[in-house]
Amino acid sequence: MIEYNISPKNFISLDGNKIASFVSEADSNVDQDTVDSFGKEWTTFSTFSDEDIRIAGDQYFDIVTDKMIGPASMVLDIGCGTGRWAKYLASRVKFIEAIDPSSAVLSASKLTAGNKNIRITQSGVDVIPFPDESFDFVFSLGVMHHLPDTQDAIQKAANKLKKGGHFLIYLYYSLDNRSLFFRMLFLPVHLLRMIVHRLPHGLKVIVCDILAVILYVPVISLAKLIRFLFPSKLWYKKMPLAYYCDKSFQIIRNDSLDRLGTPLEKRYSRKEIEMMLRKAGFTEVIFSENEPYWHAVARK
Ligand SMILES: C[S@@+](CC[C@H](N)C(=O)[O-])C[C@H]1O[C@@H](n2cnc3c(N)ncnc32)[C@H](O)[C@@H]1O
Repeated sequence: MIEYNISPKNFISLDGNKIASFVSEADSNVDQDTVDSFGKEWTTFSTFSDEDIRIAGDQYFDIVTDKMIGPASMVLDIGCGTGRWAKYLASRVKFIEAIDPSSAVLSASKLTAGNKNIRITQSGVDVIPFPDESFDFVFSLGVMHHLPDTQDAIQKAANKLKKGGHFLIYLYYSLDNRSLFFRMLFLPVHLLRMIVHRLPHGLKVIVCDILAVILYVPVISLAKLIRFLFPSKLWYKKMPLAYYCDKSFQIIRNDSLDRLGTPLEKRYSRKEIEMMLRKAGFTEVIFSENEPYWHAVARK
């Protein structure tokens, strides 16, 4: 592990373990409603099967090569949520410091309890309690589009990387690689989100579960049917929600809540993400051509 460079503000006790907390009201690059919403979300969805983690993990980390990480790598996971990607990566690296400002740290601590090379810390991206240039690899998956200042968050991640280290980021795409028809379909979903995210948590979970059944499942089933009818073509991949063809219903429920229930959400084009990475000092930006869009890896 890497020694904290500031003192914790607090400790959270869990099953005899102590999780150091560094969150403070002075943190500015944070949307508290979003953090609270995620804290509740990750309490609702705190466990994932090894199979679920492996299938989605292989997709997020498809562009991460053994030259970027290895048995000696010190890794930072920013916005770890349940810690599922830290758990996915743990066997390939030396140590993972996983941070999140929400109460998700409790779920993360439980999910990663068997991994001695993962430490969970309650902290946001604003004040990451480790010295600059301490990490060989930093990743942040599905996090920085939920922050008021995404560019600043990318810069904070860059600061923690050693020179030559790599950063893996996943940000929601602005559908910039999709057809006009596909983009128009997104409009009613966006309007739905504007209503759903304002509901109280319990009702939000019920509504998102219903939407998972009446919206996600039929569209995914159509994509699966096209895959079945035309196995040699990749037409199904152009269908909305085709990403979920090989995902469990638990993942679909979780993502329904994630996509429709989160207060602050921004979307970026591939070009915008590349610009933000380069502005933060990254070079050699490589985008995955596969879903989820967009995830990219870059070198400091
Ligand atoms: C969509 S979840 C993704 C969690 C995890 N990376 C995953 O993919 O399973 C977004 C996470 O970002 C965290 N988050 C929100 N604001 C943050 C901030 N200012 N700094 C770091 N993480 C933050 C939330 O608490 C939440 O757990």
